[in-house]
Amino acid sequence: MHFREFVSFVFLAFAIYSPFQVLVQAHSTNSRYDHTFEPSSPFLAALKTLQEQIDYKFESISLLRRAMTHPSYSEENNRALSVLGASLIETSVALRSLGKDIDISAKDLNRQISEISKVESSCFIDGMRLGLEKVVRVSPKTNSSTPAVVCGAFRAIFGAIAIDVGKSDDAGGIFWTVHGGDVGRALAL
Ligand SMILES: *[C@@H]1O[C@H](CO)[C@@H](O)[C@H](O)[C@H]1NC(C)=O
Repeated sequence: MHFREFVSFVFLAFAIYSPFQVLVQAHSTNSRYDHTFEPSSPFLAALKTLQEQIDYKFESISLLRRAMTHPSYSEENNRALSVLGASLIETSVALRSLGKDIDISAKDLNRQISEISKVESSCFIDGMRLGLEKVVRVSPKTNSSTPAVVCGAFRAIFGAIAIDVGKSDDAGGIFWTVHGGDVGRALAL
């Protein structure tokens, strides 16, 4: 190929390629698989609103980002944080129940703990009240409004707070505010 031909080939290739490039970029901006994290993204805006709702500002926002990421979406996800969160919620229920009544029976205490741990009636409702189904990142095939997804994200918030603070106290307090309080729903994305 002569140099001239080569140059026109490159130009032609570029002319064909660039509209494609624009399309691809436009698509990836809308895609839920877009892992780039732009300051102005709706996801970041939702994380900001969520912090206002729970009245806790993260030192490390990446922890809340992880808490709002379902395992179907990426390797970096909320699975382990939600285990910690579930355990913190149970602990804070036990603390509160025993604080109110040190003579509570083990049976009653266990009942209260299992009540708060119920996916359908407790953490799903709390999570929906926060509008987490609109915040949590899932794969395109995953329904983000199912109790398992919403609950996992809800519990992970408290795991994330405990890691952010370096101790578990604050997470329990924030849980009670969110669980009992009339915390508004997150913005619609
Ligand atoms: C997603 O899950 C919710 C709750 O289980 C259900 O009501 C809704 O119909 C589901 N949406 C789709 C698109 O499957």
